[in-house]
Amino acid sequence: MIYGEDIIEEVRSRNDIVDVISTYVPLKKKGSSYFGLCPFHNEKSPSFSVSRDKQMYYCFGCGAGGNVYTFLMEYENFSFPEAVRFLAERAGMELPEEEMNEEARRQMDEKARLREMNKLAANYFYYLLHSKRGKRGLEYFKKRGITEETIRHFGLGFADIYSDDLYRFLKSKGYKDEELKDSALVSIDEKRGGSDKFWNRVMFPIMDVNNRVIGFGGRVMGDGTPKYLNSRETKLFDKSRNLYGLNFARKSRKNEIILCEGYMDVISMHQAGFTNAVAALGTAFTSGHGTLLRRYTENVILSFDSDEAGQRAVLRAIPILKDAGLNVRVLDLTPHKDPDEFIKEQGKEALEERIRKAVSSFMFQIKVLAGRYNQDDPEEKTKFQHEAAKQLAEIGEPLERKNYIEAVSREYYIGQKDLTDLVEYYGTKGYVSSRENMKTPEREQRRVSGSEEKEEKKRQPQKLLLTWLVNEPVLFDRLKGIIGPDDFYEPIYHGAALMLFEQYEKEKKVIPARILNQYTDSEDQKKIAELFNTTLKMEPSPEDNDKALTDIVRRVKEDSIEQQMNGTNDILKWQELIREKGSLSGLHISI
Ligand code: UTP
Ligand code: MN
Repeated sequence: MIYGEDIIEEVRSRNDIVDVISTYVPLKKKGSSYFGLCPFHNEKSPSFSVSRDKQMYYCFGCGAGGNVYTFLMEYENFSFPEAVRFLAERAGMELPEEEMNEEARRQMDEKARLREMNKLAANYFYYLLHSKRGKRGLEYFKKRGITEETIRHFGLGFADIYSDDLYRFLKSKGYKDEELKDSALVSIDEKRGGSDKFWNRVMFPIMDVNNRVIGFGGRVMGDGTPKYLNSRETKLFDKSRNLYGLNFARKSRKNEIILCEGYMDVISMHQAGFTNAVAALGTAFTSGHGTLLRRYTENVILSFDSDEAGQRAVLRAIPILKDAGLNVRVLDLTPHKDPDEFIKEQGKEALEERIRKAVSSFMFQIKVLAGRYNQDDPEEKTKFQHEAAKQLAEIGEPLERKNYIEAVSREYYIGQKDLTDLVEYYGTKGYVSSRENMKTPEREQRRVSGSEEKEEKKRQPQKLLLTWLVNEPVLFDRLKGIIGPDDFYEPIYHGAALMLFEQYEKEKKVIPARILNQYTDSEDQKKIAELFNTTLKMEPSPEDNDKALTDIVRRVKEDSIEQQMNGTNDILKWQELIREKGSLSGLHISI
């Protein structure tokens, strides 16, 4: 650790988790916890809970959980030291000088190192663009109508024609081959040495929402292929959790975010004053992107290319965005190919007009549907009307359904009464759309395989007992001499048990959030968070409760004894363990 345990704990305790998370997620108090929509998966009803007592969060939907550090590491993509520094500053605390040597620091703070490299590279590309060597790049941007101010705003740059230019630059700054490889900016070949990923291209640095460079896109200046090269994913660069331009768009104070397809679209849009434009990073649009967008807006306008591929992408993106709880409208850019070309040809007022006229995603889907049928042919037209009615029947909200029936009948010249009847026919037939059928509940997605399930079963009593201990600390006294930390032999629970027993010994209480400071692996954090946030199912009577508890204690002890028997050849030890096991039948624990 760069910072000592005491500091880490003090910083944590001075930042109330409810206060911190509220600045990112609207929370409502319900009972002793606060609830909101989970920022880590798509959901429409809140299952994300934050507990002030425990200083922890936990999502009952997706299992995300942890303390205030975990939250920032997940949400802001901070490294652990960055989260500590962020919260120290928030609490107005002065942190001690980092006491580690270069090497140790490098190990601990890999993400920060990657960030430094990306930033250096971005600065270098930017510098090159404005040097003699970057003349071609600068001309290219100018030819495309990009102003000097926009170049500065987006930090655009140029990668030189030599294929190891950046490699040598970064080496001169003291980076080792090993870490350079992890940056995805260069590759290292045993024989040929280092070579750059990007050369002879204009460069687009990709920034995360906090304006930190995390990767690059590079475009050829002519017709070569591939047109764009993109950094591969690294520890820093998660393509489904970042969008190009979002660092600016989140601050645009507009009512919606405009989702485009390309780097150049975003740049042209911003230059024309549409500072709420973003784009996915050379990948398909995913539900991760949907969740990310939902953090910043409720409304999305899709502004993909107007060619067929672009329109197909719109149809794919609509359900993803809707599932994230977003209102979706679709922009029509015809006869131009993309927003960049539209602005160049028609200017920004014309685009504003198109934005005002953007149709709801539903009407867009109906329009696509209509295009598949020959509306002059009565038979085909009937088929279209049936298909449209099926889609209308899916709209759950009655008034909304009525409004759309009205709109569709107006637009496609269908009698309103006829269409209403048809919709009712499909609505009452118990008609279920294919999309509804295909939707898999979250539970399903997290289903574990058979052997994993068995393992899970074995761990269950240890997990449950720890949950009991956290909820009813008086049990530490009751279980003295019966159960100790070593009876929790499952590594992750053993660690937690050691810490819990020690805390109770010393302070007569347990502080779950402090224990979480010890876990850096996010899977482990989830498991521990789940442990602390499970509410116990109480039995109807105290006697039944004691019985359930006694049962769990016995099972943990039995498992532990069996484990010890497996691990020893000592006859005497064996006999002792067998005796101990026998005596468990008379066990009775009560709270
Ligand atoms: P486009 O070709 O539509 O991008 O691809 P664009 O921004 O309009 O390109 P210009 O105007 O010709 O410069 C859309 C996006 O798809 C990704 C990039 O993210 C691009 O911005 N893409 C495209 C790639 O990753 N690689 C490619 O070879 C092409
Ligand atoms: Mn384009």
